[in-house]
Amino acid sequence: MTKQQLQKLQAKNIAPLLKRISSLPKIDAKIFFEDSIKILYSHPTSQIEDEIYTLAKDLKPWRKGPFHIGNLHIDSEWQSFKKFDLIAPHLNIQDKDVADIGCNNGYYMFKMLPLSPKSITGFDPSALFKCQFDFINHFIQSKIRYELLGVEDLANYGATFDVILCMGVLYHRTDPITTLKHLSKSLNKEGEVILDTLILDSQEEIVLCPPKSYAKMSNAYFIPSIHALRGWCERAGFDSFECLATIPTDTQEQRKTDWIDSLSLEDFLDPLDSCKTIEGYPAPIRGYFKLKRR
Ligand SMILES: C[S@@+](CC[C@H](N)C(=O)[O-])C[C@H]1O[C@@H](n2cnc3c(N)ncnc32)[C@H](O)[C@@H]1O
Repeated sequence: MTKQQLQKLQAKNIAPLLKRISSLPKIDAKIFFEDSIKILYSHPTSQIEDEIYTLAKDLKPWRKGPFHIGNLHIDSEWQSFKKFDLIAPHLNIQDKDVADIGCNNGYYMFKMLPLSPKSITGFDPSALFKCQFDFINHFIQSKIRYELLGVEDLANYGATFDVILCMGVLYHRTDPITTLKHLSKSLNKEGEVILDTLILDSQEEIVLCPPKSYAKMSNAYFIPSIHALRGWCERAGFDSFECLATIPTDTQEQRKTDWIDSLSLEDFLDPLDSCKTIEGYPAPIRGYFKLKRR
Protein backbone atom coordinates (compact mmCIF):
# COMPACT_ATOMS: atom_id res chain seq x y z
CA MET A 1 0.00 0.00 0.00
CA THR A 2 1.34 3.44 -0.93
CA LYS A 3 1.74 6.24 1.66
CA GLN A 4 -1.01 8.20 -0.14
CA GLN A 5 -3.44 5.25 0.09
CA LEU A 6 -2.69 4.80 3.79
CA GLN A 7 -3.33 8.51 4.44
CA LYS A 8 -6.74 8.27 2.71
CA LEU A 9 -7.72 5.29 4.84
CA GLN A 10 -6.54 6.94 8.05
CA ALA A 11 -8.50 10.11 7.23
CA LYS A 12 -11.69 8.03 7.22
CA ASN A 13 -10.81 6.44 10.57
CA ILE A 14 -10.41 3.11 8.84
CA ALA A 15 -6.97 2.51 10.35
CA PRO A 16 -8.26 0.36 13.26
CA LEU A 17 -10.02 -1.95 10.79
CA LEU A 18 -6.88 -2.16 8.65
CA LYS A 19 -4.86 -3.10 11.71
CA ARG A 20 -7.28 -5.89 12.60
CA ILE A 21 -7.19 -7.20 9.01
CA SER A 22 -3.42 -7.27 8.93
CA SER A 23 -3.34 -8.99 12.35
CA LEU A 24 -5.47 -11.91 11.16
CA PRO A 25 -3.47 -15.12 11.31
CA LYS A 26 -2.22 -16.66 8.07
CA ILE A 27 -4.66 -19.41 7.15
CA ASP A 28 -4.09 -22.20 4.67
CA ALA A 29 -7.36 -21.97 2.74
CA LYS A 30 -8.88 -23.59 -0.33
CA ILE A 31 -10.82 -21.22 -2.58
CA PHE A 32 -13.87 -22.15 -4.63
CA PHE A 33 -15.15 -19.64 -7.19
CA GLU A 34 -18.81 -20.58 -7.21
CA ASP A 35 -21.84 -18.22 -7.11
CA SER A 36 -20.44 -17.42 -3.69
CA ILE A 37 -16.68 -17.05 -3.34
CA LYS A 38 -15.96 -19.79 -0.82
CA ILE A 39 -12.92 -19.77 1.41
CA LEU A 40 -12.65 -23.10 3.19
CA TYR A 41 -10.08 -23.92 5.84
CA SER A 42 -9.71 -26.79 8.27
CA HIS A 43 -9.29 -26.84 12.04
CA PRO A 44 -10.14 -23.19 12.84
CA THR A 45 -10.14 -22.30 16.53
CA SER A 46 -13.31 -20.69 17.85
CA GLN A 47 -11.23 -17.60 18.73
CA ILE A 48 -10.21 -17.15 15.08
CA GLU A 49 -13.75 -17.79 13.89
CA ASP A 50 -15.09 -15.16 16.32
CA GLU A 51 -12.54 -12.58 15.14
CA ILE A 52 -13.39 -13.25 11.47
CA TYR A 53 -17.12 -12.90 12.25
CA THR A 54 -16.86 -9.65 14.24
CA LEU A 55 -14.47 -8.11 11.71
CA ALA A 56 -16.81 -9.00 8.83
CA LYS A 57 -19.71 -7.41 10.76
CA ASP A 58 -17.64 -4.27 11.45
CA LEU A 59 -16.94 -3.98 7.71
CA LYS A 60 -20.67 -3.58 6.87
CA PRO A 61 -22.34 -2.67 4.54
CA TRP A 62 -21.55 -5.57 2.22
CA ARG A 63 -23.15 -4.55 -1.08
CA LYS A 64 -21.47 -7.07 -3.42
CA GLY A 65 -20.96 -10.80 -2.92
CA PRO A 66 -21.82 -13.31 -1.53
CA PHE A 67 -18.79 -14.76 0.26
CA HIS A 68 -18.36 -17.77 2.53
CA ILE A 69 -15.43 -17.88 4.95
CA GLY A 70 -15.49 -21.20 6.79
CA ASN A 71 -18.98 -21.38 8.31
CA LEU A 72 -19.58 -17.65 7.90
CA HIS A 73 -21.95 -16.62 5.08
CA ILE A 74 -21.69 -12.95 4.08
CA ASP A 75 -25.09 -12.59 2.39
CA SER A 76 -24.49 -9.33 0.54
CA GLU A 77 -27.26 -6.99 -0.63
CA TRP A 78 -26.60 -7.93 -4.27
CA GLN A 79 -26.47 -11.46 -5.66
CA SER A 80 -23.55 -10.34 -7.80
CA PHE A 81 -23.12 -13.69 -9.57
CA LYS A 82 -26.22 -12.82 -11.63
CA LYS A 83 -24.34 -9.91 -13.21
CA PHE A 84 -21.12 -11.90 -13.49
CA ASP A 85 -22.88 -14.85 -15.18
CA LEU A 86 -24.31 -12.41 -17.71
CA ILE A 87 -20.96 -10.91 -18.70
CA ALA A 88 -18.81 -14.05 -18.31
CA PRO A 89 -19.47 -15.46 -21.83
CA HIS A 90 -18.25 -12.12 -23.26
CA LEU A 91 -15.02 -11.91 -21.24
CA ASN A 92 -11.89 -12.62 -23.30
CA ILE A 93 -9.27 -11.97 -20.66
CA GLN A 94 -6.77 -14.81 -20.75
CA ASP A 95 -3.23 -13.29 -20.61
CA LYS A 96 -4.75 -9.80 -20.79
CA ASP A 97 -4.32 -6.73 -18.60
CA VAL A 98 -7.72 -6.13 -17.04
CA ALA A 99 -9.13 -3.20 -15.05
CA ASP A 100 -12.37 -3.05 -13.05
CA ILE A 101 -13.54 0.54 -12.58
CA GLY A 102 -15.78 0.91 -9.51
CA CYS A 103 -14.63 -2.52 -8.35
CA ASN A 104 -16.24 -2.21 -4.88
CA ASN A 105 -14.96 -5.07 -2.69
CA GLY A 106 -13.44 -6.90 -5.64
CA TYR A 107 -16.10 -9.62 -6.04
CA TYR A 108 -15.87 -9.57 -9.88
CA MET A 109 -12.07 -9.35 -9.77
CA PHE A 110 -11.92 -12.49 -7.61
CA LYS A 111 -14.38 -14.22 -9.94
CA MET A 112 -12.08 -13.41 -12.91
CA LEU A 113 -9.02 -15.08 -11.36
CA PRO A 114 -9.77 -18.59 -12.78
CA LEU A 115 -9.94 -17.03 -16.29
CA SER A 116 -6.14 -16.47 -16.07
CA PRO A 117 -5.73 -12.77 -16.91
CA LYS A 118 -2.16 -11.42 -16.99
CA SER A 119 -3.06 -8.77 -14.40
CA ILE A 120 -6.12 -7.34 -12.69
CA THR A 121 -6.28 -3.78 -11.33
CA GLY A 122 -9.30 -2.42 -9.48
CA PHE A 123 -10.15 1.26 -9.14
CA ASP A 124 -12.50 2.48 -6.43
CA PRO A 125 -12.13 5.54 -4.16
CA SER A 126 -14.05 3.98 -1.24
CA ALA A 127 -11.82 3.25 1.75
CA LEU A 128 -14.34 0.88 3.30
CA PHE A 129 -14.69 -1.24 0.15
CA LYS A 130 -10.89 -1.38 -0.07
CA CYS A 131 -10.89 -2.77 3.49
CA GLN A 132 -13.44 -5.42 2.49
CA PHE A 133 -11.16 -6.33 -0.43
CA ASP A 134 -8.14 -6.57 1.90
CA PHE A 135 -10.15 -8.76 4.30
CA ILE A 136 -11.18 -11.24 1.57
CA ASN A 137 -7.78 -11.10 -0.13
CA HIS A 138 -6.10 -11.94 3.18
CA PHE A 139 -7.46 -15.47 2.66
CA ILE A 140 -7.18 -15.63 -1.16
CA GLN A 141 -3.68 -14.05 -1.33
CA SER A 142 -4.18 -12.92 -4.95
CA LYS A 143 -1.90 -10.49 -6.77
CA ILE A 144 -4.84 -8.21 -7.67
CA ARG A 145 -3.86 -4.55 -7.39
CA TYR A 146 -6.45 -2.23 -5.77
CA GLU A 147 -6.12 1.51 -6.40
CA LEU A 148 -8.04 3.99 -4.22
CA LEU A 149 -8.68 6.05 -7.33
CA GLY A 150 -11.68 6.96 -9.48
CA VAL A 151 -12.42 6.76 -13.20
CA GLU A 152 -11.35 10.41 -13.43
CA ASP A 153 -7.82 9.36 -12.42
CA LEU A 154 -7.36 6.97 -15.34
CA ALA A 155 -5.98 9.73 -17.58
CA ASN A 156 -2.94 10.22 -15.34
CA TYR A 157 -2.60 6.63 -14.17
CA GLY A 158 0.25 5.76 -16.49
CA ALA A 159 -0.99 2.37 -17.69
CA THR A 160 -3.55 1.18 -20.20
CA PHE A 161 -5.57 -2.03 -20.35
CA ASP A 162 -6.80 -4.69 -22.80
CA VAL A 163 -10.15 -5.14 -21.10
CA ILE A 164 -11.92 -2.65 -18.83
CA LEU A 165 -15.04 -3.44 -16.81
CA CYS A 166 -17.08 -0.40 -15.84
CA MET A 167 -20.28 -1.54 -14.21
CA GLY A 168 -22.76 0.48 -12.16
CA VAL A 169 -20.70 3.66 -12.36
CA LEU A 170 -21.81 5.71 -15.42
CA TYR A 171 -25.17 6.91 -14.04
CA HIS A 172 -23.39 8.15 -10.91
CA ARG A 173 -21.24 10.50 -13.00
CA THR A 174 -22.20 14.12 -13.68
CA ASP A 175 -20.05 13.96 -16.83
CA PRO A 176 -20.92 10.67 -18.60
CA ILE A 177 -19.29 11.49 -21.96
CA THR A 178 -16.04 12.54 -20.27
CA THR A 179 -16.21 9.33 -18.22
CA LEU A 180 -16.58 7.28 -21.42
CA LYS A 181 -13.63 9.20 -22.92
CA HIS A 182 -11.48 8.24 -19.92
CA LEU A 183 -12.40 4.59 -20.55
CA SER A 184 -11.76 4.77 -24.29
CA LYS A 185 -8.38 6.47 -23.86
CA SER A 186 -7.28 3.88 -21.29
CA LEU A 187 -7.75 0.99 -23.72
CA ASN A 188 -4.92 -0.66 -25.57
CA LYS A 189 -5.31 -1.13 -29.34
CA GLU A 190 -8.16 -3.59 -30.09
CA GLY A 191 -9.22 -3.26 -26.44
CA GLU A 192 -12.74 -3.74 -25.08
CA VAL A 193 -14.91 -2.16 -22.40
CA ILE A 194 -17.71 -4.11 -20.72
CA LEU A 195 -20.15 -1.42 -19.62
CA ASP A 196 -23.22 -1.85 -17.43
CA THR A 197 -25.49 1.09 -16.76
CA LEU A 198 -29.11 1.95 -16.02
CA ILE A 199 -31.03 2.61 -19.22
CA LEU A 200 -34.34 4.14 -20.22
CA ASP A 201 -36.67 1.96 -22.30
CA SER A 202 -37.23 4.23 -25.31
CA GLN A 203 -36.58 4.11 -29.07
CA GLU A 204 -35.70 7.81 -29.03
CA GLU A 205 -32.35 9.48 -28.39
CA ILE A 206 -33.37 10.76 -24.96
CA VAL A 207 -31.99 10.81 -21.43
CA LEU A 208 -33.75 10.85 -18.04
CA CYS A 209 -32.21 13.51 -15.77
CA PRO A 210 -33.86 13.18 -12.35
CA PRO A 211 -33.57 16.55 -10.56
CA LYS A 212 -33.44 15.05 -7.04
CA SER A 213 -33.15 11.27 -7.01
CA TYR A 214 -33.83 8.06 -8.92
CA ALA A 215 -34.92 5.03 -6.85
CA LYS A 216 -33.81 7.06 -3.81
CA MET A 217 -30.28 7.46 -5.27
CA SER A 218 -29.52 11.16 -5.07
CA ASN A 219 -26.31 10.52 -7.01
CA ALA A 220 -28.02 9.10 -10.14
CA TYR A 221 -27.70 11.87 -12.73
CA PHE A 222 -28.25 10.62 -16.30
CA ILE A 223 -30.14 7.51 -17.49
CA PRO A 224 -29.92 7.28 -21.30
CA SER A 225 -31.93 5.31 -23.83
CA ILE A 226 -29.75 2.81 -25.72
CA HIS A 227 -29.80 5.15 -28.75
CA ALA A 228 -28.61 8.10 -26.65
CA LEU A 229 -25.89 5.93 -25.06
CA ARG A 230 -24.69 4.84 -28.50
CA GLY A 231 -24.26 8.54 -29.40
CA TRP A 232 -22.29 9.19 -26.19
CA CYS A 233 -20.01 6.25 -26.96
CA GLU A 234 -19.36 7.48 -30.52
CA ARG A 235 -18.51 10.95 -29.20
CA ALA A 236 -16.16 9.33 -26.68
CA GLY A 237 -14.15 7.65 -29.44
CA PHE A 238 -15.52 4.09 -29.51
CA ASP A 239 -15.76 2.48 -32.96
CA SER A 240 -18.11 -0.32 -32.04
CA PHE A 241 -21.11 -0.58 -29.73
CA GLU A 242 -22.83 -3.91 -29.03
CA CYS A 243 -25.76 -4.36 -26.66
CA LEU A 244 -25.26 -7.71 -24.87
CA ALA A 245 -28.45 -7.72 -22.80
CA THR A 246 -31.04 -5.58 -21.06
CA ILE A 247 -32.43 -6.89 -17.77
CA PRO A 248 -34.78 -5.34 -15.19
CA THR A 249 -33.25 -5.37 -11.71
CA ASP A 250 -35.50 -7.40 -9.39
CA THR A 251 -35.74 -8.00 -5.66
CA GLN A 252 -34.09 -11.40 -6.00
CA GLU A 253 -30.91 -9.75 -7.28
CA GLN A 254 -30.91 -6.74 -4.91
CA ARG A 255 -32.52 -7.12 -1.49
CA LYS A 256 -32.21 -6.24 2.18
CA THR A 257 -30.07 -8.66 4.19
CA ASP A 258 -28.46 -8.62 7.64
CA TRP A 259 -25.24 -7.47 6.00
CA ILE A 260 -26.49 -3.95 5.23
CA ASP A 261 -28.12 -1.57 7.71
CA SER A 262 -29.96 0.53 5.12
CA LEU A 263 -33.01 -0.14 2.94
CA SER A 264 -32.89 -1.93 -0.43
CA LEU A 265 -34.67 -2.12 -3.79
CA GLU A 266 -38.18 -3.03 -2.56
CA ASP A 267 -38.22 0.21 -0.53
CA PHE A 268 -37.09 2.21 -3.57
CA LEU A 269 -40.05 1.09 -5.73
CA ASP A 270 -43.62 2.39 -5.67
CA PRO A 271 -45.44 0.12 -3.13
CA LEU A 272 -48.56 0.11 -5.35
CA ASP A 273 -46.80 -0.35 -8.69
CA SER A 274 -43.43 -2.11 -8.77
CA CYS A 275 -42.96 -1.02 -12.42
CA LYS A 276 -42.24 2.46 -11.06
CA THR A 277 -39.68 3.88 -8.68
CA ILE A 278 -40.83 5.67 -5.55
CA GLU A 279 -40.41 8.94 -7.51
CA GLY A 280 -42.67 7.68 -10.34
CA TYR A 281 -39.92 6.94 -12.90
CA PRO A 282 -39.71 3.63 -14.79
CA ALA A 283 -38.25 0.91 -12.49
CA PRO A 284 -34.54 0.08 -12.99
CA ILE A 285 -33.47 -1.70 -16.17
CA ARG A 286 -29.76 -2.32 -16.72
CA GLY A 287 -28.10 -2.54 -20.10
CA TYR A 288 -24.88 -4.51 -20.72
CA PHE A 289 -22.67 -3.37 -23.58
CA LYS A 290 -19.38 -4.24 -25.26
CA LEU A 291 -17.53 -1.18 -26.59
CA LYS A 292 -14.44 -1.44 -28.77
CA ARG A 293 -11.78 0.91 -30.05
CA ARG A 294 -9.65 -0.04 -32.98
C1 LIG B 1 -23.21 0.90 -7.83
S1 LIG B 1 -21.60 0.46 -7.29
C2 LIG B 1 -21.15 -0.71 -8.57
C3 LIG B 1 -20.19 -1.75 -8.09
C4 LIG B 1 -19.83 -2.84 -9.09
N1 LIG B 1 -19.03 -2.32 -10.17
C5 LIG B 1 -21.06 -3.51 -9.62
O1 LIG B 1 -21.42 -3.29 -10.78
O2 LIG B 1 -21.69 -4.29 -8.91
C6 LIG B 1 -20.62 1.87 -7.69
C7 LIG B 1 -19.16 1.75 -7.26
O3 LIG B 1 -18.45 2.85 -7.81
C8 LIG B 1 -17.56 3.32 -6.84
N2 LIG B 1 -17.20 4.71 -7.17
C9 LIG B 1 -17.59 5.86 -6.58
N3 LIG B 1 -17.01 6.92 -7.18
C10 LIG B 1 -16.23 6.41 -8.17
C11 LIG B 1 -15.35 6.99 -9.14
N4 LIG B 1 -15.17 8.31 -9.18
N5 LIG B 1 -14.70 6.19 -9.98
C12 LIG B 1 -14.88 4.84 -9.93
N6 LIG B 1 -15.71 4.24 -9.04
C13 LIG B 1 -16.35 5.01 -8.18
C14 LIG B 1 -18.32 3.17 -5.53
O4 LIG B 1 -17.44 3.19 -4.40
C15 LIG B 1 -18.97 1.81 -5.75
O5 LIG B 1 -18.14 0.76 -5.34
